[in-house]
Amino acid sequence: MSGTSLDGVDGVLLEWRDSAPFENSVEHDVSLSLLSNTPHLKVLMHAFQPFDAEFRTELLSLNTPGNNELHRAALAGNRIARDYAKVVHALLKESGMQANDIHAIGAHGQTVRHRPLEFDADPSTGQGAVGYTLQLNNPALLAELTVIDVVAEFRTRDLAAGGQGAPLVPAFHAEIFGASTHTVAVVNIGGISNISILREASNQSNALASIIGFDCGPGNALMDYWVHLHQGKDYDAHGEWAAQGQVIPALLQSMLAEPYLHSMPPKSTGRDLFNPAWLQRHLQQNLRAEFATADVQATLCELTAVAIAQDLKREAPDAKQLWVCGGGALNGHLMSRLQAHASGVEVASTEAHGLQPLQVEAAAFAWLAAKAMKRETGSLESVTGARGARVLGAIYPR
Ligand SMILES: Nc1ncnc2c1ncn2[C@@H]1O[C@H](COP(=O)(O)OP(=O)(O)O)[C@@H](O)[C@H]1O
Ligand SMILES: [Mg+2]
Repeated sequence: MSGTSLDGVDGVLLEWRDSAPFENSVEHDVSLSLLSNTPHLKVLMHAFQPFDAEFRTELLSLNTPGNNELHRAALAGNRIARDYAKVVHALLKESGMQANDIHAIGAHGQTVRHRPLEFDADPSTGQGAVGYTLQLNNPALLAELTVIDVVAEFRTRDLAAGGQGAPLVPAFHAEIFGASTHTVAVVNIGGISNISILREASNQSNALASIIGFDCGPGNALMDYWVHLHQGKDYDAHGEWAAQGQVIPALLQSMLAEPYLHSMPPKSTGRDLFNPAWLQRHLQQNLRAEFATADVQATLCELTAVAIAQDLKREAPDAKQLWVCGGGALNGHLMSRLQAHASGVEVASTEAHGLQPLQVEAAAFAWLAAKAMKRETGSLESVTGARGARVLGAIYPR
């Protein structure tokens, strides 16, 4: 998995059994991070490969129209596949497993455009409005480099079926975090944040239809941009810089007025909307007086927290628990602002549930790949708004 933060590639080795629980069945002597209420799912190992600075800049630049971008996108796809292969090889080496032991790789690709609403209807029927979503990748090269079946291009089929193509993780979140007695929410704070709302008993397959999920809006992307611009850092570790600033109320209100934040799900977004140009527009309109750059950081952190808390209140007023995953879970200041705005809800990192926050999305795409290999559906129409659930992904045999 490599998400919109553009920090790099997270890979996990996920073991999945249909029936037998794992007790007494550990075949590989590797350290385990056990998922507490899912005896049939186990993350055996995690590896991370950061993007180097120059490649990160190139990926960032490919998020907006630019010179010779087809050529550059193809090269970036090759590069992504090579970084994915490095992560796969690290996982194999660490675990002592062979390529033959691995059923499939789920390789999400690097999203550089996500425009589910771009209108492409057939005027003769008025049907078939399909936008597009673009993940740079070269799954054929990855299959060649690893000699493992690769599942890629998870989002396009859901779009073709009239859906948003995102988020795709709520079914997995339900599998791991769903509770039979109360409503639980899971928020993934990556570059963009997305939330899953799991009504009670939504971990049971007949209750899948009650699950909703959507992109909340900005996660870390704008905070990462601002701290890089003014402090030269990739991210604001633990939110320490944001914690030194004062929230600028006019700027916060202006950003919170963004129509996307108030539109009803199903919905999804990306850097196409929440990008530096969006932030600069709000800064120009609202910053008349002197301000400290840390104040803007504090305001961006507050924006992420308030946007998530508002969504939670609106869509799941009965939620008792909010599990947080993605790199945002490691931002202590953000976590405390989120808890402050989500009063009455217990806010905690997924680590407390037995799954490290940076492993959740990668595990979700491993799980989706396994679904695809078995020709089982992975999407939920209640989430994406598609005409139905679909088998997600294209398979590139080894
Ligand atoms: N210790 C930390 N403190 C604050 N933020 C962090 C920390 N570690 C990671 N992050 C944030 O999380 C991001 C990576 O999160 P990730 O879940 O990988 O997002 P994505 O899926 O978009 O790549 C980083 O860009 C950074 O903003
Ligand atoms: Mg990441």
